[in-house]
Amino acid sequence: MGINPSMGYYSFRDAAGLQGLHRIARDWRMTHMDRKWLVSHLRSHLSMRNFVIIGNKATTTPMFSLEDIPGTSGRLDILCRCVTAAFVLSHGIRKDVCVYLVLLGGEIPKTVRLDGETLRHLNPDERTTAALLKKALAVSATPDWASSTSGIFVRTGGLANVLADLKGARMLCLREDGADIRSVAGCDISGDVAFILGDHMGIAPKEWTVIEQAGAVVVSIGPVSLHADHCIVLMNWMMDTNWLLAI
Ligand SMILES: C[S@@+](CC[C@H](N)C(=O)[O-])C[C@H]1O[C@@H](n2cnc3c(N)ncnc32)[C@H](O)[C@@H]1O
Repeated sequence: MGINPSMGYYSFRDAAGLQGLHRIARDWRMTHMDRKWLVSHLRSHLSMRNFVIIGNKATTTPMFSLEDIPGTSGRLDILCRCVTAAFVLSHGIRKDVCVYLVLLGGEIPKTVRLDGETLRHLNPDERTTAALLKKALAVSATPDWASSTSGIFVRTGGLANVLADLKGARMLCLREDGADIRSVAGCDISGDVAFILGDHMGIAPKEWTVIEQAGAVVVSIGPVSLHADHCIVLMNWMMDTNWLLAI
């Protein structure tokens, strides 16, 4: 929480990331050096980790069974595990993570967004996550985000819309045959970053076109094909430990 003498209280995250931080520094009439120090020290706390997971056959309706998630939802179970991997810590939820589930199994695509800052009711088990998604899919969706339970939003639209929203972030698309993530020049993932992953079916040609147009770099985290949720655990670990900067 920050305090501005003329404007009262406001949180750094509410201040819209780095730009907001610069604004706060200006409002406080900080010297140039102090401002540089503040921005460089808080930068890592403001950056967002975005995970975009493509559900090739994932349902866009709530008409699936919590008793048989894999068999009735177009493999929403895979996306639920990705949500767990992205957010769930031993004792809490990662607040600097945002997950976009791109659901392509309906007549028109839908996207569900889960925002760590306000996300509530998420437990480590798949069924609870699927129940939250079921509620989100019951909300009437339009091209604008509609709110479901706390921290979960839904809208119509697919990958192109999501990548347009994320155009300020460093975009990395994970693919087994991509360039070794360690060798990607300037692989500094300390600012806002968006990782794009496929489900059990990978990424279809139509989505590839969108990904290429968005300028994403295609990277591999090893020669073995892993589950998408395991990739997310590894990416979180790499960023937690600044592993890519250390090599
Ligand atoms: C289970 S894999 C998809 C396998 C699928 N049969 C295919 O042919 O693409 C799920 C996703 O995890 C990511 N992934 C898996 N292993 C990876 C690796 N070694 N490097 C980078 N991404 C990987 C990719 O985004 C992939 O689409």
